[in-house]
Amino acid sequence: MTSYFPGFGGHFESEAIAGALPQGRNSPQRPAFGLYAEQLSGTAFTAPRHENRRSWLYRLRPSAEHPPYERYKGAKLFAPGTSDAPLPPNRLRWDPLDLPSADADFVDGLVTMMANRDPADLEGIAVHIYRANADMDRRAFFNADGELLIIPERGRLDLLTELGRIDLKPGEIALIPRGVRFRVLLPDGEARGYVAENHGALFRLPELGPIGSNGLANPRDFLTPHAWFEDVESEFELIQKSLGSLWTTMLDHSPLDVVAWHGNLAPWKYDLARFNTIGTVSYDHPDPSIFTVLTSPSDVPGRANADFVIFPPRWMVAEDTFRPPWFHRNVMSEAMGLIHGEYDAKEGGGFAPGGLSLHNIMAGHGPDVESWRKASEAELKPHKIDGTMAFMVETCWPYRPTEYALKHAQPDYDDAWGGFPKAQLPKA
Ligand SMILES: [Fe+2]
Repeated sequence: MTSYFPGFGGHFESEAIAGALPQGRNSPQRPAFGLYAEQLSGTAFTAPRHENRRSWLYRLRPSAEHPPYERYKGAKLFAPGTSDAPLPPNRLRWDPLDLPSADADFVDGLVTMMANRDPADLEGIAVHIYRANADMDRRAFFNADGELLIIPERGRLDLLTELGRIDLKPGEIALIPRGVRFRVLLPDGEARGYVAENHGALFRLPELGPIGSNGLANPRDFLTPHAWFEDVESEFELIQKSLGSLWTTMLDHSPLDVVAWHGNLAPWKYDLARFNTIGTVSYDHPDPSIFTVLTSPSDVPGRANADFVIFPPRWMVAEDTFRPPWFHRNVMSEAMGLIHGEYDAKEGGGFAPGGLSLHNIMAGHGPDVESWRKASEAELKPHKIDGTMAFMVETCWPYRPTEYALKHAQPDYDDAWGGFPKAQLPKA
């Protein structure tokens, strides 16, 4: 892999066989070896130059060569649609989902937990959990509805994509652009984690403003794979998610047959341990936007279609300050997951690695009683929060949980905010 992600301003090129990549032209009359030139667009042709993302692929067969798609029925809990019934405005939390009892690969083991907007709006985000115990063998998948941010919690993934291979482990994240075919192998035999499916503007690094020219996630830490392909001639199932539902077709070859490519639209991976975490060195608790790894802007300045935010190991040094996340009600909606360790606003249990919580628009939340008491009484010395990695997918569009998610939420989550002592006013 190369230590530079071309999507953040550069250009990348790679060939798995010497001479496969055309020089000086994107679509020569006769590409080398009879390869087919194909453009993959991630933005409109006329998007401004700094927003424009596209790559040219040189492949064994055009991806246009396939029979009609039919409805795919294999993944029961993936992309089921959300209920239109009135949604109770309650805070929700889920225990980690069990691994599948029967064999299920990455696609069949996906469970959609919540979503907002229709994918056809080209806005919004969905949060899924994957639980897999089988390789995707002779099967590939792509998502026409948006890019996929994969956040492993347990077990490594070997992501075989059209543009190259990515080995991914818990603590790292990977992004598969909209439309890119891939299949997933499980080097550890099983895996679990989260997927944020972004229908809106492509994830990019946030502006740094007064922070300056360095900090948060640095572009050089995003790794792009080199060209890789498989030349497999046998039945190969290709599944796609399109306009919110799943479709399948059978090919007579692997669609992962891109021998060379160049451009600035590519999958990547990033190690969250590389994040340059910034916080207060005086007092008060900054907004969690200071921990933004990636942002997908909406059409309203400063209001994200989705932010991917992490809560990494960090020093807490603020004086005269309640150090954990404070009580708040947010116009943005917050889905939170936990990759490992313990989240500093929830020490009373119930939020385990692999679990998920939802605090939708204007839902009051914050520390549980135990965290509040501990932080209120703590002697404020410099203290390191260590051995933890939580994350949040925050969005301006309120989430709608799926029926499965509503049915399987913890029944007693509201208890986390029970038992706070009343403030004592001075006696008149
Ligand atoms: Fe919050």
